[in-house]
Amino acid sequence: MAHTPTDHGHPVQLGDGLAVSPLGFGGMALTPVYGDVDPAEALRTLHHAVDAGVSFIDTADIYGGGSNEELISQLLKERRAEIQLATKFALVGTPADGYTDIRGDAEYVRQAVDRSLQRLGTDVIDLYYMHRRDVRVPIEETVGAMAELVQQGKVKHLGLSEVTAQELRDASAVHPISAVQSEWSIWSRDVERNVVPAAAELGVGFVPYSPLGRGFLTGTVDTSSLGEKDFRRNIPRFAPDAASANQAVVDTVRSVAEQLNATPAQVALAWLFAQGKQLGLPVVPIPGTRKAARIDENLGALGLDLTPAHLAVLAAASDAVVGSRSANPTWVSEGRE
Ligand SMILES: NC(=O)c1ccc[n+]([C@@H]2O[C@H](COP(=O)([O-])OP(=O)(O)OC[C@H]3O[C@@H](n4cnc5c(N)ncnc54)[C@H](OP(=O)(O)O)[C@@H]3O)[C@@H](O)[C@H]2O)c1
Repeated sequence: MAHTPTDHGHPVQLGDGLAVSPLGFGGMALTPVYGDVDPAEALRTLHHAVDAGVSFIDTADIYGGGSNEELISQLLKERRAEIQLATKFALVGTPADGYTDIRGDAEYVRQAVDRSLQRLGTDVIDLYYMHRRDVRVPIEETVGAMAELVQQGKVKHLGLSEVTAQELRDASAVHPISAVQSEWSIWSRDVERNVVPAAAELGVGFVPYSPLGRGFLTGTVDTSSLGEKDFRRNIPRFAPDAASANQAVVDTVRSVAEQLNATPAQVALAWLFAQGKQLGLPVVPIPGTRKAARIDENLGALGLDLTPAHLAVLAAASDAVVGSRSANPTWVSEGRE
């Protein structure tokens, strides 16, 4: 049975004065990446998120080759004022068909933002992220171009995805950074070594992506029957041998959930809130789902307290995870530290 608190919480302050709902919504899989999607259901799910108080909505220019931003535009058309809108630039290609390049040069930043604004049908983006670091370009150039967008009023706040601690420090010297968005969950803890402490020190919020381990931590993903175009096929820890070893972490999450009368997804999210609390770091995960009911379930994680004993059991399970979290290890922060 799901844990169901009645209070969905107050807005959370990320860095640079950006206030967002305490749980966000990841829109990536509302265009095909982990399987087929019914566009009408996707739009209903987005409306349900906002109705339920999940108003920090995450997309990116490459999701669905631009069609994800176009889907979000249908929500914005009716409810722009209620939403804290985040999108990203830098990856070239699509998650389903493969990324082909990363662009962080100033000229690209200027073009990308205008394309996103047009697809989104809005005149301002609340949080604009560099999706990946282009190592051919000094980060000062990329963030400098992003800062110009703030001055022009096209963007309100800046964020960085999959940066190292040093990249975060260098970027913060150019312009205040509101949030780092990187993968962080019970089975992806490498960010805790460097970038999480740096964010806490600099007053930058953290937005963990894939907080449910791309669904794996909930125990609902059958890795032996992923569709032909399912992006998870590219990730080493979803490969047959690794996935079967990693079943142990799913079993541990399930067992903690049973003890708390909660669900595995709620435990996975509550674990992230517990990390944020321990570190004094604002942490706002952005789980994604195609199904409205799962948003209500995921909201049940707010106010679900894990005991030190539960945290210890989950940490031990996490230490036993096998396989890289990324299809391309050089494109995530861990590969550049
Ligand atoms: N910055 C980056 O590079 C980056 C990379 C990846 C993702 N992201 C962002 O992070 C967001 C979330 O990440 P993600 O979609 O990769 O992974 P996730 O949120 O960890 O997991 C999503 C998967 O979990 C399933 N799910 C959701 N709630 C559930 C529940 N209560 N019980 C059981 N299953 C549940 C969903 O399936 P159903 O749809 O069937 O419910 C979906 O397949 C993305 O949407 C995107 O916005 C960013």
